Amino acid sequence: MMWKTITLALLVKHALGQIENRMAMLRFECSQLVVERLDPLVNPGMVPSPHLHQIVGGNSFNASMNPATHDLPSASTCTSCSFSEDFSNYWTAVLFFRARNGTYKRVPQMPSEGLKGNGGITVYYIAQASKNATVTAFKPGFRMLIGDAAGTGPGTARKVCHRCMPTSGDNKNLNCAPPDTETLPKDFCVGGIRSVITFPTCWDGKNLDSPDHKSHVTYAINSTAFDVGPTGECPASHPVVIPQVMYEVMWDTRPFNDKELWPKDGSQPFVWSTGDQLGYSSHGDYVFGWKDDSLQRAMDARCDGDACSVMKSQSAEEYMKCTKPKTVEEDVDGWLTSIPGNPMLF
Ligand SMILES: *[C@@H]1O[C@H](CO)[C@@H](O)[C@H](O)[C@H]1NC(C)=O
Ligand SMILES: *[C@@H]1O[C@H](CO)[C@@H](O)[C@H](O)[C@H]1NC(C)=O
Ligand SMILES: *[C@@H]1O[C@H](CO)[C@@H](O)[C@H](O)[C@H]1NC(C)=O
Ligand SMILES: *[C@@H]1O[C@H](CO)[C@@H](O)[C@H](O)[C@H]1NC(C)=O
Repeated sequence: MMWKTITLALLVKHALGQIENRMAMLRFECSQLVVERLDPLVNPGMVPSPHLHQIVGGNSFNASMNPATHDLPSASTCTSCSFSEDFSNYWTAVLFFRARNGTYKRVPQMPSEGLKGNGGITVYYIAQASKNATVTAFKPGFRMLIGDAAGTGPGTARKVCHRCMPTSGDNKNLNCAPPDTETLPKDFCVGGIRSVITFPTCWDGKNLDSPDHKSHVTYAINSTAFDVGPTGECPASHPVVIPQVMYEVMWDTRPFNDKELWPKDGSQPFVWSTGDQLGYSSHGDYVFGWKDDSLQRAMDARCDGDACSVMKSQSAEEYMKCTKPKTVEEDVDGWLTSIPGNPMLF
């Protein structure tokens, strides 16, 4: 499984006399809450927002979510995540398949191997690599964004990449290291496409958000696209080490793996809900909403996977029940003549 692969890679990296410094990471499922055109981080109050998102987490998610007044844990009555004190919201763009006749079909999501969920996202919180060093959990009102919904070329979205998945198990390379790409894979992926979105590990310690939703956080000095976890040194401008949040989204492209369905010129048929066919516009939004000090407790306890003695959990049956009706009434599941919000595409 993927988290074992990461753990192994880290062991190798830190192997010399430091085996006890194994990285601890929460890895858990958040089932689909809703799929709709809302974006309370980038377009608060806008109904509908410019493009479609798939959203997981607490059911207090809505169009506005004013950081000063919207308290996610108290405003939510359930969460679609397996840790039942996590009322955060996590969302990404949505993938569509474009048929030869020009209509679009939303690509369903599937849970990562070993997890249960209806669509949704596998969420990671990676704690400090060193056993005796701690990370500082986010504060209420904290939010951030990575990737660029308007991205048209490489470099704008570090640590946002796609992996062509094998039938089962995982490739052996680190996340976002070759053969993973920022573009969408060019050929059939027998196990679907996995999007990985890995957030920064250094915070300025002051701002819960910033105008671009990015500048208050940054990656560690010299961090590469495929580093995992808060391993490096944070710059003086962003001295506070925060847990590394990472999303894994499994797009079940398998039903479309048929040359008769793909474009005659052999080009790949998938397109993001942003209208981007290359793949560079993949992005992830995060609004922190863990109850009280639960995330800090989990990080301090160096919990691993989706079972943690200091945390409350709920069964898959329970978290899959947490869904929300759409605010924006539009079809997102049929064969659509255009991608919602992108009527002029192609
Ligand atoms: C969002 O939820 C908050 C808190 O429950 C509520 O005050 C606000 O009116 C809601 N906004 C919208 C647009 O539904
Ligand atoms: C367009 O193509 C898809 C996939 O082949 C098919 O399911 C759908 O019915 C077609 N729609 C129309 C209007 O022909
Ligand atoms: C962690 O503990 C080791 C051994 O006790 C010590 O050498 C090291 O400096 C400590 N690291 C931090 C960041 O406190
Ligand atoms: C970053 O990389 C440069 C060039 O390799 C090196 O000189 C510097 O010490 C590194 N800084 C940190 C904090 O690792």
